[in-house]
Amino acid sequence: MNKKITLNDILDPISPKVFFNEYWGKKHLIIRRNKFKNLFTWNDFNKYMNQYPVMKGLQILDYRKEGDGRWCLDKVRNGKLKLPMLSKQDVYDQWKNGKSIVLPFAEYQNKDIVDICHEFERYFRNGQSNVYCSPRANSKSFPAHSDQTENFLFHTEGRVKWTIYKEFAPGKPKEILEETVLEAGDLLYIPQYQYHKVDTIEPRILISIHFANKDKQSLSNFKISKLGDSGRLKWYNWSPQRFYDKKGKKIEHHYRMPANNWKKKYFRDKI
Ligand SMILES: [Fe+2]
Repeated sequence: MNKKITLNDILDPISPKVFFNEYWGKKHLIIRRNKFKNLFTWNDFNKYMNQYPVMKGLQILDYRKEGDGRWCLDKVRNGKLKLPMLSKQDVYDQWKNGKSIVLPFAEYQNKDIVDICHEFERYFRNGQSNVYCSPRANSKSFPAHSDQTENFLFHTEGRVKWTIYKEFAPGKPKEILEETVLEAGDLLYIPQYQYHKVDTIEPRILISIHFANKDKQSLSNFKISKLGDSGRLKWYNWSPQRFYDKKGKKIEHHYRMPANNWKKKYFRDKI
């Protein structure tokens, strides 16, 4: 349980050596497998969304015709985006009407996401994690575009269709290299500047964890930092460790009265 997540675990079954030599900065990589499906599930989404509006960030895609189409909670709050503040019911209606939702800064939603960030940040600069959620098929996501970061996309719920283009920015997307459907447990790596597009074919959640490269990073002079050197705050386990098993070893969960026993204690006598 406390085992650290290594880059080998993250890229399994591709070795870090093969990844950096053959894929990093050059071409996309699809790893079909059954791992990290619990990073952010529908249950997590439910809990997160029910906290609205007490949350750091939330974006609704395809909310309006102008600009990039997004409604951003933080920008509406601080006045940078001149759009009305939405009520919880409004946001729910948007979701029910098929709009995709992005939850930015999701690094600390789950210990595994933090651990994955820590491990990646030995090889890249400090990153960020966004969760992309869509309620149904044909929810609008992003058209063909490229990103300035190295992108790792962890699929946790549903399936999405990916289109990967041959071209990198500043060129234009023209030739399709691959069209494929990925599902929960799969990982997709897209190098910075490579064009790509997502189509939603059913309700889905996918987590993007993305990083800029370290200064002057190259295969011939490849810098790997020590775990924790990125300055990212670690995940603490806040559970009290007050309980011990028979061998005197600390156990972390709270003692809970076995079901049914409490009734006897309190309702032994007639009141
Ligand atoms: Fe992207």
